[in-house]
Amino acid sequence: MKIIVTGASGLLGLNLSLGMMETHTIVGVDRSKLTGTPFELVQADLLEPGAGSRLIDKIRPDAIIHTAALANLEACEENPQEAQRLNADLPGELAAVCAKRGIQLVHISTDSVFDGTKDGIYTEEDAPNPPGVYSATKLQGEQNVLSVYPKAAVARVNFFGWSLSGSRSLSEFFYNNLSTGKQANGFTDVWFCSIFVGDLAETLVRMLEKGLSGLYHTVGSEAITKYEFGVRIARQFGYNPGLVIPISVEESSLKAKRSHNLRLSVHKLSTDLGMEIPGVSTGIEKFYTQLQQGYPQKMRSYQQL
Ligand SMILES: NC(=O)c1ccc[n+]([C@@H]2O[C@H](COP(=O)([O-])OP(=O)(O)OC[C@H]3O[C@@H](n4cnc5c(N)ncnc54)[C@H](OP(=O)(O)O)[C@@H]3O)[C@@H](O)[C@H]2O)c1
Repeated sequence: MKIIVTGASGLLGLNLSLGMMETHTIVGVDRSKLTGTPFELVQADLLEPGAGSRLIDKIRPDAIIHTAALANLEACEENPQEAQRLNADLPGELAAVCAKRGIQLVHISTDSVFDGTKDGIYTEEDAPNPPGVYSATKLQGEQNVLSVYPKAAVARVNFFGWSLSGSRSLSEFFYNNLSTGKQANGFTDVWFCSIFVGDLAETLVRMLEKGLSGLYHTVGSEAITKYEFGVRIARQFGYNPGLVIPISVEESSLKAKRSHNLRLSVHKLSTDLGMEIPGVSTGIEKFYTQLQQGYPQKMRSYQQL
C-alpha cells in the first residue's frame, strides 16, 4: 500500500513512518523539520488552501493516515483559531478529497474528548463532552470527517514513545528527569490507557488493511494512573521509583483542564481486528529496548539543523 502520513515530524508520524516503511511505501508530509529520512518526504503546509488535494493528485496514494494537528493543549488554549483550522476544519477538508477520490483515510483523534466524569470505562457509544479547546476542536474534526466520508476510520488514541525533540511524550518526561536523578511529578488521579507508539503504528496500518470504518478507541488494553506509569518507567530503566512524586493533577501548574478518567474500552477494535491489543507493560519494555538500540539518536539524525 502507498500511504501518505501527515505530521511526519511528529511523535506519531515519525515513528509510524519509520516503523511501516519496510512493509509499505510511505510518503511523509513535513514542513521542513526533517532531512535524509529513509522514507520519501514531501514539503507542505496543510493549512495552505488546496494543499491536501494537490498532495493527493501528485502522490496518488492508496491511503492517508492523518496525524498532523495542533496537539499541545496549552497552545490550543492560547491559539483557538489555529486549533480550529488544524484540528477541526482541515480533517473535514481532507476527508472530502479522500471521499471524492476513493482513498482510504484513518484520521487520528484523541481519548480526551471525554470529560472523565464517567464511573467506568468509556465505549464508542458514550457521549463525549470535551473539557477544553484542544479536545473540542478534535471532536469537531472527528464529526467533520465522518459526516463527509463515513467510510473513513477515526482512531481515538493516547500513546508514548521517543520523539524528534526528545521531550514530546510523557514517557520522555519521566525518562529525562529520572535519568538525571531529578524528581518528576506523577498524577495519581488521572487514569489513561496509553499504547506504545510502535504498537499503535502497527494497529493503525491493520485498520487500513482490514478496511475498518467509523469510530474506534485505539488505545492500550491496560488502564493505569500517570503516577503508576512513571513508576513503571523507573523500574524498567533501573531508576529510583521514589523519584516519581505522587500528586493530584489539581495541584499541577498545567492551565488546560485534564480529565481524570480516560479509561477507554478496546473491545470493538480488538473484535474487528481479530487480535489482542497490547497493554502498557510490553510497550514500556519496547520503549526501553529502543533506547538500548540507539533508536532515539537515529531518529534525531533526521532532524534538519
Ligand atoms: N501525543 C499523544 O499522546 C496524543 C494523545 C491523544 C491524541 N493525539 C493525537 O495524535 C496525533 C499526533 O500527535 P503527536 O503527539 O504526534 O503530535 P506532534 O508531535 O505535536 O506532531 C504534530 C505534527 O503536525 C504537523 N503539523 C502541524 N501543523 C501543520 C501544518 N499546518 N501543515 C503540516 N503539518 C503540520 C507538525 O509539523 P511541525 O513539526 O512542522 O510543526 C507535526 O509533524 C494528533 O492528531 C493528536 O491530536 C496525540
